[in-house]
Amino acid sequence: MKTILWAAVTANGTYMHGGQSYHWPKEVFEDFDRCAAQAGNCIIGRKTHEEYAGSGGDFGRIDVVVVSRTPRAIPGVKHVTSPREALLHLEERGHVTALVGGGDSLLNAFLAEDLADEVIVNLTPELGGIGNHMALAGTDHKPMNLLGVREIGGQILRVHYALRR
Ligand SMILES: NC(=O)c1ccc[n+]([C@@H]2O[C@H](COP(=O)([O-])OP(=O)(O)OC[C@H]3O[C@@H](n4cnc5c(N)ncnc54)[C@H](OP(=O)(O)O)[C@@H]3O)[C@@H](O)[C@H]2O)c1
Repeated sequence: MKTILWAAVTANGTYMHGGQSYHWPKEVFEDFDRCAAQAGNCIIGRKTHEEYAGSGGDFGRIDVVVVSRTPRAIPGVKHVTSPREALLHLEERGHVTALVGGGDSLLNAFLAEDLADEVIVNLTPELGGIGNHMALAGTDHKPMNLLGVREIGGQILRVHYALRR
């Protein structure tokens, strides 16, 4: 299963959380929707799901998997208790690619378990605060190969990498 981590970050690498004072440009959502439609699925953390569903968001007809240590039954969504279980579920459903949409806790859990193959980063033309990050644990580092880069509108650079194995 090819596993792609998807994120929008500011030009200096801050992984912004949504809230009353921060909103992503529409191009970021469009890129996420394209990636999710292409994969046919997305895996998200419990907090991201609550925020998105709470704001009336709709994932359409893709398979949505929510990761939480406390499984809950929510119609239309598969709850699992770990990143590995999320991938197993999608594999059983016949998917060949999994898209992990965030938040940073979940992205970092996939990185910590060495479950990521590729990373897509939407670099927004902003500076962020110290904030949150998609990151490996401690002082670890991993080289990646550049697969592609393009401007997707709104002065946003979409950069696609493969983690080197
Ligand atoms: N910048 C972006 O591209 C982007 C994209 C998506 C979301 N966001 C933002 O990210 C924020 C949320 O991020 P977050 O990091 O606070 O939360 P999150 O990653 O959305 O959800 C965290 C929750 O996921 C579950 N989880 C995480 N790792 C797990 C593991 N290894 N095993 C089992 N369950 C695990 C836990 O749920 P339980 O507590 O239920 O056990 C944990 O509390 C939102 O405000 C949203 O706006 C940003």
